[in-house]
Amino acid sequence: MHTVNTVAGVRERVRAWRAAGEPVALVPTMGNLHAGHIALVARARALAARVVVSVFVNPLQFGPNEDLAAYPRTPDQDAEKLREAGADLLFMPSVDEMYPHGNAGVTQVEVPGLSDILCGASRPGHFRGVATVVSKLFNIVQPDVAVFGEKDYQQLAVIRRLVEDLCFPIRIEGVPTARESDGLARSSRNCYLSAEARARAPGLYRALVEIAEAIRAGRRDFSALEQQAAHALAQQGFHPDYVSIRRAADLTEPGDADTSLAVLAAARLGTTRLIDNLLIGLD
Ligand code: PAJ
Repeated sequence: MHTVNTVAGVRERVRAWRAAGEPVALVPTMGNLHAGHIALVARARALAARVVVSVFVNPLQFGPNEDLAAYPRTPDQDAEKLREAGADLLFMPSVDEMYPHGNAGVTQVEVPGLSDILCGASRPGHFRGVATVVSKLFNIVQPDVAVFGEKDYQQLAVIRRLVEDLCFPIRIEGVPTARESDGLARSSRNCYLSAEARARAPGLYRALVEIAEAIRAGRRDFSALEQQAAHALAQQGFHPDYVSIRRAADLTEPGDADTSLAVLAAARLGTTRLIDNLLIGLD
């Protein structure tokens, strides 16, 4: 595996693969890699001859009061894990390499609507930052396929829409959420949890499972289910941001006849914001 820090370095490698007719997959990450990220790399390897992984903590997608400075950075361990996972190229740019004119006033990509609901409502500008950096990475690497986790389901929806709207010739592949044995979705932010909060954290997943079971059993009083779950989470010490049942395809409000749903939730536990979701197919 090679590591490069510049756009020119990526282009040089990818050009050679392309000339040899080798398809390229991209896995964008912010590093501090765990089993969820590695599952994306495994899927990428199954889909393309060459796998590029980017590790870049993107300042544009962090709000002013968020954890940009504290975000865990573990470049040496990340490189080791990616070597073991069989990645071909690690792209680890500096902020200056990605935003040479500074990140204030940079050209940005906005996916309206989808970016303003759910997590977007409490993190204004977050999905604009994601859409912008992912568009840049797509243009830098020009992959045939890019792999993202269903863990960040709204992010995946934003990226699918941006690819469609801007005609990126890139297939977007979603990978199911990797979980700890107690159900907690793996996340780089789990390391912020105190021992006590870590013990409570799987309650978020359990709340989603309960909603999914109720829907499978025939309940369609979606707002009552959402409210009950938010209440139960609050009683367990969470500060719920939202619990929401949506159409899986476009995250709009579902009707009784919809058969493909997503249950999404975000809640703070202490100072850590956790998100999770479950997909429900009713066919
Ligand atoms: P990051 O949080 O590092 O996640 C990188 C990728 O790993 C995303 O596609 C995310 O959905 C996926 N992922 C994270 N935890 C997962 C889990 N438990 N199971 C499966 N997949 C998981 O998401 C970002 O970075 C950034 O917003 C990024 C897309 C890189 C743009 O900066």
